[in-house]
Amino acid sequence: MQSRIEELLRKVEQFKPANLGEIEEFRIKILGKKGELTELFEEFKKVSPDLKRELGQKINRLKNLVLERVTAWKNELEEVESAAAGELDVTRPATAQGIGTRHPISLVRNEILAIFSRLGFTTAEGPEIEDDWHVFSALNFPPEHPARDMQDTFFIEKNPDILLRTHTSSIQVRVMQSQKPPIRVVCPGRVFRNEAISYRAHCIFHQVEGLYVAENVSFADLKQTILYFAKEMFGEDARIRMRPSYFPFTEPSAEVDVSCNLCGGKGCNVCKHTGWLEIMGCGMVDPNVLKACGIDSRKYSGFAFGMGVERITMLKYGVKDLRLYFENDIRFLQQFESVI
Ligand code: DAH
Repeated sequence: MQSRIEELLRKVEQFKPANLGEIEEFRIKILGKKGELTELFEEFKKVSPDLKRELGQKINRLKNLVLERVTAWKNELEEVESAAAGELDVTRPATAQGIGTRHPISLVRNEILAIFSRLGFTTAEGPEIEDDWHVFSALNFPPEHPARDMQDTFFIEKNPDILLRTHTSSIQVRVMQSQKPPIRVVCPGRVFRNEAISYRAHCIFHQVEGLYVAENVSFADLKQTILYFAKEMFGEDARIRMRPSYFPFTEPSAEVDVSCNLCGGKGCNVCKHTGWLEIMGCGMVDPNVLKACGIDSRKYSGFAFGMGVERITMLKYGVKDLRLYFENDIRFLQQFESVI
């Protein structure tokens, strides 16, 4: 019996069918009612009990092999035959793969960086997990100063000196520590604030910080730079206005509005009928900040500005709900890449 199993095994292994008919013939010869394997199973009933286990396993393995091979031979031949009959169209275009689009926040951030790079600004990044000094102290927020409450901060419980940066102004500190003037840099990044999520606020958002430090930098340079940015971003007709404001790290400080690009300044729902939209904060770098970063404030002066990327995207494209940026609904995201 052992030798018949082996013989049959060899037969199966050597068999090379030329067509589907031959496979069927072979299958019947082995597995059919009077097939060789069926006969073996009959004989197996008479085998002495001490050999049953070993032989049983062998016969079963043989049977599985035959079944496996029959299916494989059939598949192979069917493919070849249908290709020969012209059923396989090798020129048919492949099923299209859906590819994504870049996120509107990435597109607008890149556009902001590109506009400033035309003015000679390079790009710098910094860590999202920061220490108190880079986010607050070096930027002239004294300890316990109420200005720290302007930004609701996520602290690390075990060590309140470590926090999630609330603004990308921390990067300007790192840049001034590591570079010598003249410095012209824009710093994009994600920032975090402990805010309840709504259509107009989120606990995670994106900013671009700008910094220019050199000899004789004036407020006029700041105004021209921002005006150039506004025209590039919102169109040649864009106008800007500056309102006095307060930031600990700039003196004087201002908030910048751009003329509403939806109504052209006539007044509409989006600009709340004022004709103006707020786009960023800015000012002349406070000498205390230059000093903290090791820059001679008698020799050098500078300006800085900071803007929210979500806000710029919102104003440029009329997106009314901030949460859309985080939902990643493809119907929303697909609308931007072709526009920009
Ligand atoms: N860091 C400020 C904020 O997050 C934005 C800002 C205002 C940045 C004025 C500046 C600046 O560099 O000069 O609200």
